[in-house]
Amino acid sequence: MLRVLSGLQPSGDLHLGNYLGAVRNWVADQYEYDAIYCIVDLHALTLDIDPEELRSRTYETALDLLASGLDPERCTLFVQSHVAEHTRLAWLLECTATMGELRRMTQFKDKSAGRDSVRAGLFTYPVLQSADILLYDAERVPVGDDQRQHVELARELANRFNRRYGDTFVVPEAAIPKLAARVMDLQHPENKMSKSVNSPLGTVMLFDEGPDIVRKVQKAVTDTDGEVRYDPGAKPGLSNLLELLAVSTGRTPAEVAGSYQRYGDLKKDVAEALVELLRPLRERRAALAGDPGAVTALLSLGAAKAGITASATYERAAGAIGLLTPG
Ligand code: AMP
Ligand code: TRP
Repeated sequence: MLRVLSGLQPSGDLHLGNYLGAVRNWVADQYEYDAIYCIVDLHALTLDIDPEELRSRTYETALDLLASGLDPERCTLFVQSHVAEHTRLAWLLECTATMGELRRMTQFKDKSAGRDSVRAGLFTYPVLQSADILLYDAERVPVGDDQRQHVELARELANRFNRRYGDTFVVPEAAIPKLAARVMDLQHPENKMSKSVNSPLGTVMLFDEGPDIVRKVQKAVTDTDGEVRYDPGAKPGLSNLLELLAVSTGRTPAEVAGSYQRYGDLKKDVAEALVELLRPLRERRAALAGDPGAVTALLSLGAAKAGITASATYERAAGAIGLLTPG
């Protein structure tokens, strides 16, 4: 069975972009592939984060993912720092990557811009991500469009390492969803929905109450020409709404556009579809929150499972690169 792997930072509550662009596809993939999902707490250390907050967000992210439909019977869900091989392999890959290629990473450029103090870990972030992927021989890496460059780097490092030291790693490929790869902010449809931008009205949180979802969709920014047409370039706000209804109902945005004359009718149906889409998640989350011990136990089982593959791959890489096997 094909192996898929993806990771999510424990950086706060999930929004609709995270769900439609990433997590929803993870849920679907667990039925088709050997799926491994990692809460990347070590990556969260690359920016300023309060220790207590990191701890609680890591736990909350596990809850969010389980509520979103990840089933521990069907996939492996674990916390990155619980499997020591991630940082061990990251070092071997740091000695494979070059400064030049890391400097070209657009996420590094964005996140370091305008700061006078940038953590070294922010620079090597994509190498740790490559370790996450390569440790599990993952063939397929489902991520949003913004992570394409990082997966390319993992491919490049795998190929370079294999050329230099002999066949060691499976070369991964990004799996980017065709629809909803970029869910846009409802208030600023030229920007993607993002937790790092303060736009409460433009961001639908995964566990927003129904009436809040309705209000946000009703207030979504569109345009004034009044024509319902899918055209992300010229009509970003309206096209975003069409995409949201399309992914929620399994149609194409153009098909959806054909069924509406008025923006108001479209908005009403988008709101309704989103409320229905997210209702079961909200219900599952409430049930899980009542049993924190069970969530912790699932994570430790996940780490034990992941650790078996991770240590085999690490030993393979360490041997190939010339590290002496310990006794
Ligand atoms: P982040 O919120 O940046 O940590 O991203 C977590 C995951 O959600 C990544 O796979 C992203 O590519 C995806 N993602 C984040 N924001 C969006 C968005 N607005 N539209 C689609 N996917 C997104
Ligand atoms: N960098 C990814 C993000 O910000 C998270 C991530 C870490 C990841 N390790 C990964 C994604 C491995 C896919 C595979 O979304």
